[in-house]
Order: sequence, then C-alpha cells, then structure tokens
Amino acid sequence: MKNPYRPFLTRIDKITIENEAKDLKTFRLVFCDEEEAKGFRFQCGQFGELTIFGVGECPIGIASSPMDEDFIEFTVKRYPNGLVTNALHNCRVGDRVGVRGPLGNCFPMERMEGKNLVIVGGGFAFTTLRSTIQFILHVANRGKFADLTLVYGARSPGELLYKDELKQWETRKDIQTHITVDKGDQDWKGQEGFVPAVVEQVAPSPENALVLLCGPPIMLKYTLPVLTRLGFGPGEIITSLEMRMKCGIGLCGRCNIGPMYVCRDGPVFTYEQIQALPAEF
Ligand SMILES: Cc1cc2nc3c(=O)[nH]c(=O)nc-3n(C[C@H](O)[C@H](O)[C@H](O)COP(=O)(O)OP(=O)(O)OC[C@H]3O[C@@H](n4cnc5c(N)ncnc54)[C@H](O)[C@@H]3O)c2cc1C
Ligand code: FES
Repeated sequence: MKNPYRPFLTRIDKITIENEAKDLKTFRLVFCDEEEAKGFRFQCGQFGELTIFGVGECPIGIASSPMDEDFIEFTVKRYPNGLVTNALHNCRVGDRVGVRGPLGNCFPMERMEGKNLVIVGGGFAFTTLRSTIQFILHVANRGKFADLTLVYGARSPGELLYKDELKQWETRKDIQTHITVDKGDQDWKGQEGFVPAVVEQVAPSPENALVLLCGPPIMLKYTLPVLTRLGFGPGEIITSLEMRMKCGIGLCGRCNIGPMYVCRDGPVFTYEQIQALPAEF
C-alpha cells in the first residue's frame, strides 16, 4: 500500500512574483517522475501539502487548472516567521519540492454545470477560484456553464494577483469581470471600493445561480449579508475554509470542527453546512 505521508518529488519550473510587496509568489512545479505526473489528477478547490525537505510541510490550494496536465501551480504568501512559506520563498528555479495530494474535496463542478456562476474573491484566497475560472473558460468546458461573473478585490493595484490573466479576462465576452481595489494609485483606471459594496452594485441575480466566495474573514463577514439580501440562500453560497492542518488526510484530528475534518470533509463547504457546525473556527 502506498504510504500517504510520502510526497511526490517535483522541481520548480517557474517562479512568478505576484505583488509589489513581493510576499506572494506563484510556483510552477513539474513532477520528476512521469508516471507520478500522469497519476496526479485533481479537481478545482483541492489542495496539496507542500514539503520543503528538512524544514516541514504546509497545506496550499492548487492554483492552476486541472486542464493543465504538464504542471501544477501554487500561489504562496510568505508568513512572517512562517517556517515553510519562508523556505519556499527562498527557493530558486530547479530546486526540489515535495507535494502530497491532491487532498480534500472540491468545488461541486457537476452541480455548477448549467448554472449562472458568481465568483467573489478577495486577497490571496483567490488562488483556487483562479483554478476554477481557468477550468470553466477552457474551450472544452465553457459550454457546460451559463453566465460567469467575477468580483475580485485587493487592497491596492499592486496586490492584485495574476495581473496578465485579469487583463485577458476583461477582454472576453464570456466572463463579466469587476476588478476592484480598496484604494487606487495615480495609474489605476479601474474601480475603487470594497468587495461587498461592488457585489451590491453588480447585484447578480440568484436565479439558477451559485456563488463561490473566498476571501479574508472581514470580506466574508460583509459580503454574506449582501448576498442574502440579493436572495441567495446559504445552500447556494460555497466557500473554502482554511484551518490549521497537519496530516491533511483525516488522521491526526488537528483540523476538526465538531464531527467534520476540514482536510478530509472540506475544505469546500456551503454556508448551509457551515451553519450546522459548532462555532469553533
Ligand atoms: C486548505 C488550505 C489551503 C491553503 N491555501 C493557501 C494558499 O493557496 N496560499 C497560501 O499562501 N496559504 C494557503 N493556506 C495557508 C497556509 O497553509 C499557511 O500560511 C501555512 O501553513 C503557513 O506555514 P508556515 O510553515 O510558513 O508557518 P508556521 O511556521 O506554521 O506559522 C507561522 C505563523 O503563522 C501562523 N499561521 C500559520 N498558518 C496559519 C493559518 N492557517 N491560520 C492562522 N495562522 C496561521 C502561526 O500561528 C505562526 O504565528 C492554506 C491553508 C489551508 C488549510
Ligand atoms: S489535518 Fe489531520 S485530520 Fe485534518
């Protein structure tokens, strides 16, 4: 039987510095073993445990699309004093990184088919939503989903992730993008304002629609009532929880909320499911 704690060996193929503060980098990883690469099939919303050998491992959402089979990408924020995230940020192209996964559940793609999708993201929690948008926009998949609306915000223009992709999406007719920053600078020509206010202004219809909502707690706190006012029920709002984790496979008990293990039963939950859990997070 395969040892679930043994990571796959990957090589860093590309590193993209995403933000002005330079504390967010996207790591493109390529499997060292071709057979392992073929066997690693994931779905949008899943995560991996990234290992820096001799340092430790930590859970990170998969930021690339399942349609990209030659590599996987992770966008990682360097935590002040964070052991693994600092070690990762010190890595260079060609260095080896371990990956365990794919882990956890995923966004409910089958349920999302045929629906109008409203994707609301803030800060660096946008990573698995980026994976989802790339997947939906792929020519093989776009026809399966109805309208796609994106509201994505960051503190400042320099903190927006995936800037080239955002520009491309803005030129497409099959995704309505609303990119906002809390405060612009002299070059910013786009929208200013907090994500909840922009969602209220865009006012997506709840008819035949689902919302994917990921962001910092403060954004979620103020966006939820807006979505409720617009008519979205808690079963139609889907999010991803970020608990502290260790094993990532439902064995150590580090991430439980009541009877649920976030690593195994999540990290993706509807607000209806979250409301039924004890308030332990
Ligand atoms: C399912 C899931 C997906 C994630 N996806 C991403 C992602 O895409 N990109 C990304 O940058 N991060 C993501 N995270 C968060 C990431 O796992 C943590 O930032 C990481 O574990 C920090 O590891 P470290 O060794 O650098 O920090 P540590 O050395 O473990 O801790 C450093 C400091 O940060 C605090 N800290 C660390 N992790 C957390 C946490 N989760 N919540 C609160 N405080 C914490 C510690 O208390 C300590 O003070 C995800 C977490 C989960 C559970
Ligand atoms: S992290 Fe070990 S049970 Fe979830």
